[in-house]
Amino acid sequence: MSRKIWVFDTTLRDGEQVPGAKLNLYEKLEVAQQLKNLRVDMIEAGFPASSEGDFNAVKEVAKQVGNTDDVMITALARAVKGDIDAVYQSVKHAEKPMIHMVLGTSDIHVEKKFGKSKDQILDIGVEAVKYAKTLLPDIQYSTEDASRSEFEYLWSTIEAVVNAGATIINVPDTVGFAEPEQFGELIYKLNDRLKNLNDSVLLSVHCHNDLGLATANTLAAVKNGADKVECTMNGIGERAGNAALEEVVMALNTRSDVFNVHTNIKTKEIMNTSKVVSNLMGLEVQVNKAITGDNAFAHSSGIHQDGLLKSRDAYEIIRPADVGLEDMELVLTARSGRHAVKDALEKLGFKQLQVEQFEIIFDDFLILADKKKEVYHHDLYVIVKNFFAKHEISSNEVNSYSDSFYELIDLQVISNTIFPSASVKIKQGTEEINSSAVGSGPIDALYTAILQVIDLDIRLLEYKISSISRGKEALGKVKVSVQYNGATYHANATDTDVIKASALAYINVVNKIVVENLLPEVTV
Ligand code: KIV
Ligand code: ZN
Repeated sequence: MSRKIWVFDTTLRDGEQVPGAKLNLYEKLEVAQQLKNLRVDMIEAGFPASSEGDFNAVKEVAKQVGNTDDVMITALARAVKGDIDAVYQSVKHAEKPMIHMVLGTSDIHVEKKFGKSKDQILDIGVEAVKYAKTLLPDIQYSTEDASRSEFEYLWSTIEAVVNAGATIINVPDTVGFAEPEQFGELIYKLNDRLKNLNDSVLLSVHCHNDLGLATANTLAAVKNGADKVECTMNGIGERAGNAALEEVVMALNTRSDVFNVHTNIKTKEIMNTSKVVSNLMGLEVQVNKAITGDNAFAHSSGIHQDGLLKSRDAYEIIRPADVGLEDMELVLTARSGRHAVKDALEKLGFKQLQVEQFEIIFDDFLILADKKKEVYHHDLYVIVKNFFAKHEISSNEVNSYSDSFYELIDLQVISNTIFPSASVKIKQGTEEINSSAVGSGPIDALYTAILQVIDLDIRLLEYKISSISRGKEALGKVKVSVQYNGATYHANATDTDVIKASALAYINVVNKIVVENLLPEVTV
């Protein structure tokens, strides 16, 4: 049986230190509940001594999420009585509470930050552990700035606090200074001594990402004996952030040949958790972020799409479903090659196109792809329909299918504080439909007006807008995700008018659903 690695999530404490990411009590509870669904072993819910609000939030997380014995709830204290009491009073409501305390061990922290001697700091740490131990059995001690600490002093601290009752020793690379090989060696030496001293004490690591090495350092530590990893969702945290939970866990899973360890994480909950954290904290995930970025499972190069269609393992090391995504995405762009376009056409039912027919359709696809950043399946239908019309090929199905799609003809949106309202003119087949609505804001009004035309029961999950170029001609890019019949669909659109881009993105996602509802029975 492989070794178990404990996963400690600090999204609600270190992650919440990101400026502007502060959550209210209800939001904190929602994130904590999702972390429990993800099956993290430990949740650090906050820093209760920092404010009454945080104290109450930690207390509610302990009561409402920590009410079962499958997750431990902790919170951070400095090595002072007031902080320790605040942690105890807030986490004690959990079935499995723990006190986490931090005190520096590097010369910089001891001498410059505290202005004390090493012996004095060591004594403060030991006394704090002894006091905390009178309150709870489980105590984690973090030797802040461990990676820049003098080794023998670091060890003396660890030895003393373990003898005083600490049950987990956490070795932080507080400023992201560590390098994987050195950090691995440090963990190897500490683990060797620690397990000789008391083999029931867990050795943990907490790595920051200032040099982009947080995940690499965490993995090096696991390879060298660390029992526990501290992470945050999407890698958020102080400055450049912390080791990203999804990266560490998926690296351990995917490269089990190297690590030979396992975690308790339910990886299918990774995407859900990433979205909850990103939406509630207002922190967008970088599109190319490993595992949770929008493009992490999207393939756009023609060479890659061709390889994937021949054999998925050519360019795929993780099954998207393993992290909770529906499938990989082959984005049709001007870079897509013939194989991907042919495959998409076949999926739509156009299985019998002759070579010359396909070549003309492919050329039309390229013309459209040069104009539009992404080509959707409904666009392909329209290309095929136009091709058939031009060449007088009759296909009732193609005509009736493309008559099912929606096209934005015009819109007007009024933004004000009393009645934000929108009017749209939408074409479906030959019919033009007008619709107007008010909403809580201009986009809400716009989407309500569109929904009134569209006969689908969809729920907006996500709406993102960003600028993708500079100057007067700036393009707005909008991404929307909706839920329909339990499945999630998303689409983008770009335009110089962000309101129009918002409408087009919504229409694109609706047409995606329409395509999926059509039976691909066309045989041409
Ligand atoms: O980075 C750090 O050292 C910390 C400790 C509190 C573990 O966040
Ligand atoms: Zn930290």
